[in-house]
Amino acid sequence: MNAEGFAAIAALIKARSGIVLTPDKEYMLETRLAGLLKQHAIPSLDALALKLRDPRAEVLAKAVTEALTTNESSFFRDGKPFDHLKRLLPRLLAARPPGHRLRIWSAACSTGQEAYSVAMVLQEMGIRGAEILGTDLSAEVVGRARDGLYTQFEVQRGLPVQMLVKHFRQEAGKWRVQPALREMARFEERNLLGDHRPLGRFDVVFCRNVLIYFDPQTKGRVLNALAAQMAPDGVMYLGGAETVLGLTDRLMAVPGERGAYGLTAAVAPVRLAG
Ligand SMILES: C[S@@+](CC[C@H](N)C(=O)[O-])C[C@H]1O[C@@H](n2cnc3c(N)ncnc32)[C@H](O)[C@@H]1O
Repeated sequence: MNAEGFAAIAALIKARSGIVLTPDKEYMLETRLAGLLKQHAIPSLDALALKLRDPRAEVLAKAVTEALTTNESSFFRDGKPFDHLKRLLPRLLAARPPGHRLRIWSAACSTGQEAYSVAMVLQEMGIRGAEILGTDLSAEVVGRARDGLYTQFEVQRGLPVQMLVKHFRQEAGKWRVQPALREMARFEERNLLGDHRPLGRFDVVFCRNVLIYFDPQTKGRVLNALAAQMAPDGVMYLGGAETVLGLTDRLMAVPGERGAYGLTAAVAPVRLAG
């Protein structure tokens, strides 16, 4: 494709999702958009770039953006945040009035493994009445998260077999999350670049393995917007390759806890015992 066409698609993706596509990602456009070109009978990526100039091409622009997201996820990914969560939850609950409903947000939840991992932690700990919200830009993955139906390959990645047997049931060669867990989690389409104020306040926010696709300015903007939705003693978990350093002064690392961040003004999030 020509440089102008690539630049036009990259600008559209950045504006709609924050995802930065550098010119070395042209192969990605070719592989990820091949099906879409065929489906819409568009002869080439350059022709697609031209079509996308039309502001009425909203449906196509959305489909192109979704096709260029990377939706890789797994249950209990990276382990450590979930270990920290287990130690954090009792302390958060102790600091809340009786009957408080814990709220946990899996922002950029992809196909739901992160949200259901949290649901399993809560259930194993006997914590009832919590609300887990999973959100993602992509309608397709949000639909899959709602279905809670996973392949053998997906459940083999990170999910201990006793958890699989306890929290899933087999269905036509796949594994369906048990209703009790599905009732704890709710999924909706949401762009991280949007206004999150209507969502209210969260005790815990997971925003993992998505900031890596953004430029520093967008990372800072998203981190600030998410921080604004956190309870003063809440915790945010980022992916192993992500940091807040140089991006926001509203969040600071929880000492000794890789990937866990608390609000700068909060006194609470220090190292937890155990
Ligand atoms: C690699 S997955 C990470 C899933 C999960 N958080 C994890 O760590 O396993 C990244 C997800 O971010 C989503 N995403 C990318 N840009 C987004 C945006 N601007 N708003 C919301 N979600 C976005 C993608 O659709 C994708 O599902």
